[in-house]
Amino acid sequence: MLKTGFDADFLWGGAISASQADGGWREGGKGVSTQDLRYLDPAWDHDEVERKHHEAPFTRAEMETALVDDTVTFYPNRRGNDFYHRYRGDIELFAEMGLKLFRTSICWSRIFPQGDDPEPNREGIAYYRDMFERCHARGIKVFCTILHYDIPVNLLLKYGGWKSRQTIDFYVRYARTLFEELGDVVDYWLPFNEFNAGRFAPWDGVCLIPGEEDSGQQVFQCLHHQFVANARVVKLAHEMLPGKPVGGMIARFCTYPATCKPEDNLQALQDDQYANWFYTDVMARGAYPAYMERYFDQFDIRVQFAEGDAELLRENTVDFLSFSYYFSQVSTTEQGWEKTAGNLVMANKNPYLPTSEWGWQMDPVGLRITLNQMYDRYGLPLYIAENGLGTSDVLESDGTVHDDYRIDYLRSHIEQLREAVIDGVDVRGYMVWGFIDVVSCGPLTMDKRYGLIYVDLDNGGKGTGERFRKDSFYWYQRCISSNGADLA
Ligand code: BG6
Repeated sequence: MLKTGFDADFLWGGAISASQADGGWREGGKGVSTQDLRYLDPAWDHDEVERKHHEAPFTRAEMETALVDDTVTFYPNRRGNDFYHRYRGDIELFAEMGLKLFRTSICWSRIFPQGDDPEPNREGIAYYRDMFERCHARGIKVFCTILHYDIPVNLLLKYGGWKSRQTIDFYVRYARTLFEELGDVVDYWLPFNEFNAGRFAPWDGVCLIPGEEDSGQQVFQCLHHQFVANARVVKLAHEMLPGKPVGGMIARFCTYPATCKPEDNLQALQDDQYANWFYTDVMARGAYPAYMERYFDQFDIRVQFAEGDAELLRENTVDFLSFSYYFSQVSTTEQGWEKTAGNLVMANKNPYLPTSEWGWQMDPVGLRITLNQMYDRYGLPLYIAENGLGTSDVLESDGTVHDDYRIDYLRSHIEQLREAVIDGVDVRGYMVWGFIDVVSCGPLTMDKRYGLIYVDLDNGGKGTGERFRKDSFYWYQRCISSNGADLA
């Protein structure tokens, strides 16, 4: 029967990640993670930050300095938004908002500080248990990302990180520990954030130094190790936690041909295959798709499969798919097409779309298209794991933040989400990214804010750290309580 709106059990959510929110980098027994090493000079202006992010997001020299540098000022992920100390109060705010689903990640180096420790860190487990129990006590379900860009740095230095198959074993042991210790307080498991990140953000995705180690050969071999790790963890989840859904995620780049020229359409098809479908095809269909053979041949890439890998992938596919969605992009064979900054990548400009303060092309209709495309292709339940507008805000002297622009963004996307529901897409949840302000992932600044809750910290970590409800907080509260009917 034709739907007219959201099902009663639709999950209205919000998402953050450990490295961007938690802080407390040396507390509670936590070890150093790869995200603790990323550097920002708070004196840089917007253009300098963007240049750094696009031209040299992470260098070996930066890594070597960070490994011996204990100052906290210039390493934003070491302090996050101080969620580690404030999560109890924050969860009260989430409950007041009416949130139904909370997505965060576990910090691997809080559970296994070195990655290869003989025993897990009980204090780290207790921290997440308390966080998730508090959510449940307030009727909020938990969507847990097992790995969101931060691995224990020791695994990188000692074993080579995702270059090595040994990391697969450490990762599976880490996931097993989470299933044993937190299996009862997590509702949805997501082994990897944005599986395609290895390709567009090598340090974040697969811990390779951009421009130095990220040849196609290295990236795809690391990604293969992650595919194997993913399949092993899906298998483990199905064995240990029957009935608990375990899913896959990509950063979804909705792709349009620039013109109706066949060449542009072919380019769009291939960009979509290489940037998006490859990852979901492996996770949901259980095999490397045929089109990648030709791609690997063209770029002389030889992915080493160990015995049993193909079978493992085939037999352990995901229960649901999810994706982050911020913007769409344009494919063309034409050289010199105008560019715009995108989500971690530079994109071709679409003349029909407005751009955000950070140059992202806002495209709500692309969300409806994406949902339809993914559901048509896989027929699996879908969750929007991230969506939102990153922009600067002004905290007024009376503690208010008037963010109509963010409300407009969210409204237009939720309207298209509702259209997709009526189209018949089985989409079960929607999570606003960074619904409490966090350190941004690409630029590493606080001033690129996504939150419905303002956090009083600046790019240098200065401020009270206090939380303030933005206008969008009340707007989302009404959206949730009306189950998406009241978007005014
Ligand atoms: C996604 C990541 O790529 O985009 C998040 O999963 C990230 O970690 C989000 O924060 C928005 O990107 P940014 O760079 O604006 O924070």
